[in-house]
Amino acid sequence: MPTNFNYPPPELRKELQQIADALVAPGKGILAADEGPPTLAARFANATTGFENTEDNRRRYRQLLFTTDLSIGDYVAGVILTHETLYQKADDGTPFVELLRKRNIIPGINLDKGHVQLFGTENECTTQGLDDLAKRCEQYKKDGCHFAKWRCALRIGRGTPSSLAVKENANVLARYASICQANGIVPIVEPEVEPYGDHDLETCQKATETVLAAVYKALNDHHVFLEGTVLKANMVTPGESSSKKSSPEEIARATVTALNRTVPAAVAGIAFLSGGQSEEESSVNLNAINKFPGKKPWPLTFSYGRALQTSAMRAWSGKSENVAAAQEEFKKRAKANSLASQGKYVPGSIKSLAASKTSFVFPPAY
Ligand code: 13P
Repeated sequence: MPTNFNYPPPELRKELQQIADALVAPGKGILAADEGPPTLAARFANATTGFENTEDNRRRYRQLLFTTDLSIGDYVAGVILTHETLYQKADDGTPFVELLRKRNIIPGINLDKGHVQLFGTENECTTQGLDDLAKRCEQYKKDGCHFAKWRCALRIGRGTPSSLAVKENANVLARYASICQANGIVPIVEPEVEPYGDHDLETCQKATETVLAAVYKALNDHHVFLEGTVLKANMVTPGESSSKKSSPEEIARATVTALNRTVPAAVAGIAFLSGGQSEEESSVNLNAINKFPGKKPWPLTFSYGRALQTSAMRAWSGKSENVAAAQEEFKKRAKANSLASQGKYVPGSIKSLAASKTSFVFPPAY
């Protein structure tokens, strides 16, 4: 039965598509700098010692990233911020948003309000934050954010992800995406199939296909304009504690196959999360995905948090005298991933301080 619908007006479609295309422009990707205070503290504990988790230290760390020289804009098209970071300023009073604009980088905002357990499930969850979302989107757009992120998490286990978790998370992502678009904000849609467990590559592939198929059905049901969206996807990998390791080429084949089966070609682009892979693995796997000789109708790039920042954090260690060295580390990984997004990264060619360090974080109980 046909349903009533209206496509967004042409000017809004044009605006959304321009933003989405800019985020995945050739050779560019996204920096996820939206770790909340507890997550940032844990990342620092993993990368260095003695980081005091104060608002000003968080500001100093983000200042370091956003004052990296203008060349960073050749590799990074957008930065995902937290509410706190969006309104912070550099030591000289320049708003962070202004620093990003000068580097031709689009500011974005994390809009989700965290996870809650789905009652009666095997520790599965959904993501909160819809109630006041339209108001928040309107304000963030005025304050300079042109795209957003909302993360849902699905976990592979005995009988999971369940059909309840798959449906609920697909629906909440679609509702978020439609509210963003109504306010001129490009939604990054992130249904992460988490890497925890000892499952094999095929199990991850099938779970990823099931989740993505449900997400795109829901986005269609909610009249989301796909050309004005970006998918933030997990790569298809064996579970982090699996005894069977897969080569970058196997990961590339499973990932591109899963995406081809489920993600419409109209989607502006796909930007992967790094999910605990080391900096070097994240670059090598992204490179293999781009070199995979199959159909790839979308740009395939990065939206990395840990894989862009671990070496930089370690180099900084909270000390002003290390800022320049930390910025060099950040630039190295940004350049490596820019090359990888074009299939031009030579494994091992860009050395960084923590290149081979994985940073899986023990999964939370929701
Ligand atoms: P990682 O690349 O560290 O997984 O972070 C990306 C992200 O934003 C997950 O929501």
